[in-house]
Amino acid sequence: MMFSENEFSNSTLPRRVIVINDSEDSIDLMRAFFQPKKYTVSSFRRAELDLTKIEPLSGVVLADPRILQHQDAESVRILSQTLPIILVVEPETDEKAITDFSYTVFETLRKPISFLEILASVERAQQTHSLTPHIENGVSEQTKVVEMTSNNPIVGNSPKFLLALEVAKRVARSSANIFIFGESGTGKEVIARFIHSESSRKDGPFIAINSSAIPENLLESELFGHAKGSFTGAHEKKIGLFEEAEGGTLFLDEIGDLSAPLQAKLLRVLQEKKIQRVGENVLRPFNARVISATHKNLSREIQDGRFREDLFYRLNVIPVALPPLRERRDDILPLAEAFLRKFAAINDSPARVFSEDAIKFMLEYSWRGNVRELENAVERAVVMATKPKIDHSDFLISNPDLTLEVVENHAPATKDSDFVVHYDGHLLPLQDVVQKYVEYAVAKNGGAKCKTARVLGIDRKTLHKRMPPADVYAN
Ligand SMILES: Nc1ncnc2c1ncn2[C@@H]1O[C@H](COP(=O)(O)OP(=O)(O)OP(=O)(O)O)[C@@H](O)[C@H]1O
Ligand SMILES: [Mg+2]
Repeated sequence: MMFSENEFSNSTLPRRVIVINDSEDSIDLMRAFFQPKKYTVSSFRRAELDLTKIEPLSGVVLADPRILQHQDAESVRILSQTLPIILVVEPETDEKAITDFSYTVFETLRKPISFLEILASVERAQQTHSLTPHIENGVSEQTKVVEMTSNNPIVGNSPKFLLALEVAKRVARSSANIFIFGESGTGKEVIARFIHSESSRKDGPFIAINSSAIPENLLESELFGHAKGSFTGAHEKKIGLFEEAEGGTLFLDEIGDLSAPLQAKLLRVLQEKKIQRVGENVLRPFNARVISATHKNLSREIQDGRFREDLFYRLNVIPVALPPLRERRDDILPLAEAFLRKFAAINDSPARVFSEDAIKFMLEYSWRGNVRELENAVERAVVMATKPKIDHSDFLISNPDLTLEVVENHAPATKDSDFVVHYDGHLLPLQDVVQKYVEYAVAKNGGAKCKTARVLGIDRKTLHKRMPPADVYAN
């Protein structure tokens, strides 16, 4: 678990379980177990089930999938966005009833199972869910007061992303410089704006500059300003972005591309907390929090002498690591759905939902361009769609490059002989063998964790638990 035990289980969280089941015995047992634990228990049988009545409630749904099968799949999906649904599966249940909802539900629990396991799952669901809506609402409200900020909410569901967001939220309160690591399109700017909006500087400006997009000879004056006549073309004096960001946040994107002379100047500025406009001798103090980001592997840049280590330590007081989308596949569907809603509204498109094929494709595709690539792919598919349901083919027609990548992704990433557990006379703990096998299986499926979980016959959460711990700060 990425969060400490009681971090988010504050007392204001509604404690309710909503049991969807036809068996009186099951309902009574749930009630007998949960009520003494201060949970309200609401129950619905098939005959009286109306999902729209459940939606306004708060709590965690414990549902027999056979009953959900009698509901419209789209309504179940919509409900799952408001309330976490846990499937509680009787042994005789047809597998299809489970797979029908495997993309929608929070977790699947198969009987026989202890009540304590059900309780643990309910608590997990509550903690995870209590974060997501808070993030969406919090950010879209905050963005209104942030300069140069889009109105797009932050979407995320995976433990890795929620951890990055939690780190970002905590460091926002400090005044330390922050470094955001992450491949292209992982949402570095989104996080930088989030940090700004969560900080005490939120009413000040948020100024972003992409160091690689500005010609080298103009960048210094852009950052620090210049005096009138200080170089050809400098007809007027100009204040730089460090001064413009006064009282707010300066986001230096693609800092890994900064030239050596500018790296030296930036280091001096950060050490002295003063800037010097080009063509002036005056040192001016500034008050801006600096957030920098790069998609490059800075350790390598430093090793090869292309980036100053001393500057790196100045900028990187606190690191925030944004993992690539392929390592947080739980974020794919929530993001895709948010983009679908956004682009359907903008384009007046009939598209409303994704077909199962489209979902399967999105979950298995490699998304090397990360969230940005997913956003573009969904936008094009929405524009091309002629029906309410977006099919896999809508993606392929509108994104010709995707075909190649999928094929590539399906190619085995490892050879069969790669799974070897060495026996040197000492037996390995079973846990280690399981971990190695799961790691191997994920690699063999080109990193597609959902698919691997299906093949191994376990759910995604169990797969994650069995995987070796990831180094979130690995660059
Ligand atoms: N968690 C998220 N929720 C919603 N939208 C997101 C999220 N992460 C990224 N995006 C969207 O994906 C796109 C890319 O995000 P962003 O520009 O922040 O990435 P980046 O890491 O700065 O990319 P680059 O390295 O290319 O500059 C943007 O349109 C952004 O709105
Ligand atoms: Mg960026």
